[in-house]
Amino acid sequence: MIHIHVLEGDWKMSKKNLDWANIGFSYMVADKRYVSNYKDGKWDDGTLTENSMITISEDAGVLHYAQECFEGLKAYETEDGRIVTFRPDLNAKRMVDSANRLEMPPFPEDRFIKAVEEVVAANKDWVPPYGSGATLYVRPVMFATGNVIGVKPADEYQFRIFVTPVGPYFKGGAKPIVVKISDFDRAAPHGTGNIKAGLNYAMSLHAIVTAHEEGFAENVYLDAESRTYIEETGGANIIFVTKDGGLVVPQSHTDSILPSITRRSIVYVAREILGMKVEERPVKLSEVPEFVEMGLCGTAAVISPVGKINDHGKEICFASGMDDMGPVMKKLYDTLTGIQMGTVPAPEGWIHEI
Ligand code: PLP
Ligand code: COI
Repeated sequence: MIHIHVLEGDWKMSKKNLDWANIGFSYMVADKRYVSNYKDGKWDDGTLTENSMITISEDAGVLHYAQECFEGLKAYETEDGRIVTFRPDLNAKRMVDSANRLEMPPFPEDRFIKAVEEVVAANKDWVPPYGSGATLYVRPVMFATGNVIGVKPADEYQFRIFVTPVGPYFKGGAKPIVVKISDFDRAAPHGTGNIKAGLNYAMSLHAIVTAHEEGFAENVYLDAESRTYIEETGGANIIFVTKDGGLVVPQSHTDSILPSITRRSIVYVAREILGMKVEERPVKLSEVPEFVEMGLCGTAAVISPVGKINDHGKEICFASGMDDMGPVMKKLYDTLTGIQMGTVPAPEGWIHEI
């Protein structure tokens, strides 16, 4: 017993001395990262390194034809001091889907999970303490390092995972935000909107800078084909709550929404744990005023409540208001984050201990 207490004391003392409660969503150089290179038709064994810099050829495929994809997941310290990640198998699978769509060699799913374990363990002092409001963001990224000049896939790649401690994605934490309907499109019908490719985010940068200048926290993108249906925001999926407490999740008929792991988990939590009615279907912008709550969901966003949407000067105000998260979002948020932090029992296979 005494021995355990000594160990716990040592562990807590070895944590980095950061102001955990006040860190934003930005990059800090942690101690170690995982790197594996692909050459001559195979991935090498991979290694942990302290070098956060990358040297590549001026002709590397990533620089010209944007052959790049990435993932995002988090590591958490639980109430009883364990370090866990949330459904990393789904990130591994989605990165394989992204790589295949971009003609990149997929990084094997079992090796992805092992690499996540290694990087998080090697940076355990960077995992924010339970209850601090911060978490350790884990960013796998893969890009073409091989030379190309004609438009074709490269033949060399790098897969890398680094970590950085993060606070809330939106300023103000769980305070409702105001978003706008964008005049720009995020993803073409049947294009790359359903994979996590950096090119989708390049497309959104002008729109997000414009939205911020106008005082909005994010853009809501409509389907590019008809500009009628709600798709998602630049960095999160969208969920709505109906007057009778059901969950409505926009689905794309043109396959241009990123299959968010957080959203898929919320759908399960709502249906199977909270016994809510859940509809996954195309949602028209014109029906949004009938909903009473709206939220943005994702690894970075967790569940961020939306108080208002601005549609070209016309406001759609949700009954949940601008002061607090609405009651249904709160229930979903508490259950989801409770599962992630180990205070609510997790469905089989969701929590991956490091
Ligand atoms: N949609 C976009 C465009 C995103 O960038 C993200 C972030 O990863 C999400 C949705 C949410 O996905 P996930 O819940 O898997 O993090
Ligand atoms: C994530 O939630 O992991 C993302 O990649 C979104 C990004 C806007 C930070």
